Amino acid sequence: MITLDGLTKVFPAPGGGDPVVALDGIDLHLEPGRVHGIVGRSGAGKSTLIRCLTGLEKPTSGRVEVDGTDIAALEGDALRAARRNIGMVFQHANLLDSRTAARNIAHPLEIAGVPRAERERRVAELVELVGLSGREHNHPAQLSGGQIQRVGIARGLAAEPKVLLCDEPTSALDGSTTRQILRLISDLRERLGITVVIITHEMAVVREVCDTVTLLKDGKIAQTGELVDVAADPHGPLSSELISLPPAPTGIDAVIVNCDYGDSTRFRTSEDLIRAAEAHGAEATLVAGTIETIGGRQVGRVQLALRNASGAAISAESLASYLAELDAAGVVAKEETA
Ligand SMILES: Nc1ncnc2c1ncn2[C@@H]1O[C@H](COP(=O)(O)OP(=O)(O)O)[C@@H](O)[C@H]1O
Ligand SMILES: [Mg+2]
Repeated sequence: MITLDGLTKVFPAPGGGDPVVALDGIDLHLEPGRVHGIVGRSGAGKSTLIRCLTGLEKPTSGRVEVDGTDIAALEGDALRAARRNIGMVFQHANLLDSRTAARNIAHPLEIAGVPRAERERRVAELVELVGLSGREHNHPAQLSGGQIQRVGIARGLAAEPKVLLCDEPTSALDGSTTRQILRLISDLRERLGITVVIITHEMAVVREVCDTVTLLKDGKIAQTGELVDVAADPHGPLSSELISLPPAPTGIDAVIVNCDYGDSTRFRTSEDLIRAAEAHGAEATLVAGTIETIGGRQVGRVQLALRNASGAAISAESLASYLAELDAAGVVAKEETA
């Protein structure tokens, strides 16, 4: 549905210094009907990428193909027509305060010259689709943050686009509202078969709704793939960002070992890690950790406290042999150093 081919965007330096390479040869293919996450720190190039996808920004070089059309090569009416295929949802819906929810949803249809009867039919459909029934005559001041974002999503879907681009759609919402909006987005993908691209800095968003994830770093792709594969690769940069480790436990008199597992065939669960310690003369206790099951596979970042049978510290030899066994089986294991 979306293919980026050598996408590069260079901005002249504002002060006349070195130019800024915001996107540096991005090659990416996003399949139709799925939810794709694009993540990265501030300055990684996420907004530039989304602006290139909408045709707002012309690439310095490369192709931006959306549904078979090279957006970067279009101008004027042809670009405007292609852009109707792309719906946008922003962090802040920026609704018109003087209009009701329904009339905010109708706004892009009015601009596109859709006749009144068809517009009303479409708005009624959208109100139902995004779960705003009963609230359609409220003004923005009478809507919650989540309801306002539902209006924003309905407005983005008004022209029946094939692609919905969401730029930080939940960054201004609290946790439970975020989950409701993400559920709505997955539901829309199911019901409409639409392709969704979500730009976010929130790993929780990626974990909850994305089928694939791409990490941008300094304008390049640092990692990309199916969420299950990316999250389970303990050596990749994203797994440590997707699954956060709680702060190290305090007041424990034992050797603490941090373990990241997910793609090991030998260590599939934290219990496997605990059991294996015995063979090295150690007793392991799980003292902190985050364990998730993504696509049926357990992925975890855990901290184990290791003691010997009498509760004293384990020997350096025991520790080294245990760590070597974990390492050989694909678990990233390190002693926690204070
Ligand atoms: N119009 C512009 N002119 C000059 N530099 C820009 C412009 N837009 C973005 N940049 C630079 O490009 C890089 C990527 O920016 P951006 O795409 O906004 O990143 P993100 O959205 O991931 O935070 C940054 O170094 C930013 O300063
Ligand atoms: Mg940005």
